[in-house]
Amino acid sequence: MVDKSSREVTIVGATGQMGRWFTQYFANRGWHVHAYSRSEEKLCWLKRELAAPEPGGSISFTTGLHECIPRSAWVLLSVPITAHEEAIAGVAPLMGKDAVLFDIASVKGRIPALLAGARKEHGIHVLSTHPMYGPGAESMTNKNFILIDLEGDRSVVDRFRAIIEPDRPTIIEATADEHDRMIALTLGIPHMLNILFGKLLRDLGADITRLVSFEGTTFHLQHLISQEVLTQEPFIYATIELENRAFIDMLPEFKRIVDELVDILKHKDYDGFIKQFVTIKEYFSIVPEFKSVGYRFNSAAKRSLDIIKEGKEPAT
Ligand SMILES: NC(=O)c1ccc[n+]([C@@H]2O[C@H](COP(=O)([O-])OP(=O)(O)OC[C@H]3O[C@@H](n4cnc5c(N)ncnc54)[C@H](OP(=O)(O)O)[C@@H]3O)[C@@H](O)[C@H]2O)c1
Repeated sequence: MVDKSSREVTIVGATGQMGRWFTQYFANRGWHVHAYSRSEEKLCWLKRELAAPEPGGSISFTTGLHECIPRSAWVLLSVPITAHEEAIAGVAPLMGKDAVLFDIASVKGRIPALLAGARKEHGIHVLSTHPMYGPGAESMTNKNFILIDLEGDRSVVDRFRAIIEPDRPTIIEATADEHDRMIALTLGIPHMLNILFGKLLRDLGADITRLVSFEGTTFHLQHLISQEVLTQEPFIYATIELENRAFIDMLPEFKRIVDELVDILKHKDYDGFIKQFVTIKEYFSIVPEFKSVGYRFNSAAKRSLDIIKEGKEPAT
């Protein structure tokens, strides 16, 4: 049994991108963090990389689950989507009765069921979460943070909300199914379109350096997003595409729409093109920020171009 108010957390996968982020996050807020890795070598590297925590917080580094898990009130799984089954099986039996095991996976799939199974078998508490930002985020302020109540009585969700609310994220509560459907649209589709964009240019044999000298604002921003997607860790991005059933189920519709648009273009169907264009514009125009689209678009491009011209990233 662990003390519910204890501020002791284990991060499983602390050497990874998000694991490192959450290790620093909790330590800077006065928690004692057990940074767990399977590798001594990676822990040595992590020790050198992390900044000293703010006063009150502390970090210990361990390759021994038996050392840290039984003492932790919270255990954060920050491992690849495909590694959750193994990680839950290794961690859950060692946890104290009132401790909470939670994930931050970008696709839920079977993870909620695995966590619920661990709750049933080991009498622990469980929660599923998804911070909608990457390891480059300075803070979670104003970033979306999705919470999925796996126990149905809100108690663990409310305890977690109390931990993160001081940092003012935008908290959204959802079911696991809704999460995966929405993530198929907010991560699966944009990642695929940006990979497609790069693949099309490359497969068409376009000289990218020469192409950039012909760019307008739309190409500049589209190229920027595509570059950003393709500089991420390939395996983690593969899991976002390949592990989300809701995304895979959308692919036939994706193919149908591409064929429909290609037909419109091939047949010089001006009416068809304009009808599609206006219908999609009307669909987008419902969100209030649609009013400022031109301003935000040009500001983003200007900022990016200024950074290139200055030849260096601004000091943060
Ligand atoms: N990257 C993002 O932008 C982002 C954003 C939101 C959520 N997420 C989610 O956060 C989680 C972690 O993503 P990440 O980008 O931080 O991944 P990552 O950089 O690849 O790190 C994952 C860590 O998990 C550990 N690990 C790998 N396989 C394992 C296994 N079988 N058992 C136990 N530990 C294992 C590794 O640590 P050791 O080898 O040291 O043990 C590794 O450093 C994923 O579920 C992802 O969907 C990622």
